Amino acid sequence: MPGRNDPIKLCHIMGAEKIETLPIAGDDPVSRSLNEFYQELAPENKEPYVGLKLHLIRPDSIPSVSFFVKRGKRYRIFRNQQEAFSAFEIKALLDAGIERIYLSRGDSGTIRQYLETFLSASSAQPQMPMEAQVSLARSAAVRITEELFQDPSPENIRKGMKAVSGFVNILLRDPKAFYHLIRLSSHDPYTYQHSVGVGLNAIALGKRLKLSTEQELMDLGIAGLLHDIGKTRVRPEVINKPGPLDKVEWDEMRQHSSWGYELLKDNRDVSQRAKLGVLHHHEDNSGSGYPHGLTENQISIFAKIITIADIFNALTTDRTYSKAKSPFDAFKLIQSAMMHKVDKQLFAELVLIYGGKLD
Ligand SMILES: [Fe+2]
Ligand SMILES: [Fe+2]
Repeated sequence: MPGRNDPIKLCHIMGAEKIETLPIAGDDPVSRSLNEFYQELAPENKEPYVGLKLHLIRPDSIPSVSFFVKRGKRYRIFRNQQEAFSAFEIKALLDAGIERIYLSRGDSGTIRQYLETFLSASSAQPQMPMEAQVSLARSAAVRITEELFQDPSPENIRKGMKAVSGFVNILLRDPKAFYHLIRLSSHDPYTYQHSVGVGLNAIALGKRLKLSTEQELMDLGIAGLLHDIGKTRVRPEVINKPGPLDKVEWDEMRQHSSWGYELLKDNRDVSQRAKLGVLHHHEDNSGSGYPHGLTENQISIFAKIITIADIFNALTTDRTYSKAKSPFDAFKLIQSAMMHKVDKQLFAELVLIYGGKLD
């Protein structure tokens, strides 16, 4: 939501800041096992093998890495990467009292992705508590957003869509998870919080407006996640400038919505309405927005949703030069100074969402 003195700082996006895996809040067996696995991944742990509780592996979709079992202090290969590892063998190991399998530390990234992707998917373990699913979905989205902003390639965009589909699945099953997803993101660098947060607010608004087909919610989520992706083309010295931008720099910054659209326009995975959401997220109803100075009737509902989600998320997230406002204060500020930028009905719906009314 940049104003003239309000350039969004993306100094974190080039990977300067290491993403950490936060502990998962729940105290159920799955959350505990995940926390154990994450602890073993900590860089100070030098063991060449990393333990993984077998009940974290979905028998219908076993990741293709080599697995080891521990005998005393030694690790023995149990399954080579190329060999089949079936649900039957998992059960046999469990029956034999072996609850934990090991993998090479070098494969831990693959397993982490596997856990984040599969365990947060809708068909995944129904017994998995919501907190664990939320943490996994969030940590997957944060990691994928980091990759996206380093390289907005079609492959990474596809991964971003998977993360959004994880959110949509969770929110369709349990709308209240929204409040957990939103709350849990405060530890990550601004760009990730912002992109993921805009996607989540956009999905929530879509639900309130009964744009409830899964595809519509997906399109809103991906437009939110990608809305600032054009900033990857803004020069780092402009992005990272500590003070206000001069006219030339600001003109460059304002290109980001067009550049984002350009990045996406030939991508067949992303729908046209999502692309227009990216292109028009800085248009405003009064005609004073950019890049085209469109007026109210010319802006799609998708773009209007991204606009208000963007403004609201920027105000309620800590930035390098301003502290996060409470949702209440953000609504007051929008109401007193920014109503020309946003759609009135959407504003009212967002107030209701933060008042606890998601459906
Ligand atoms: Fe933007
Ligand atoms: Fe933004």
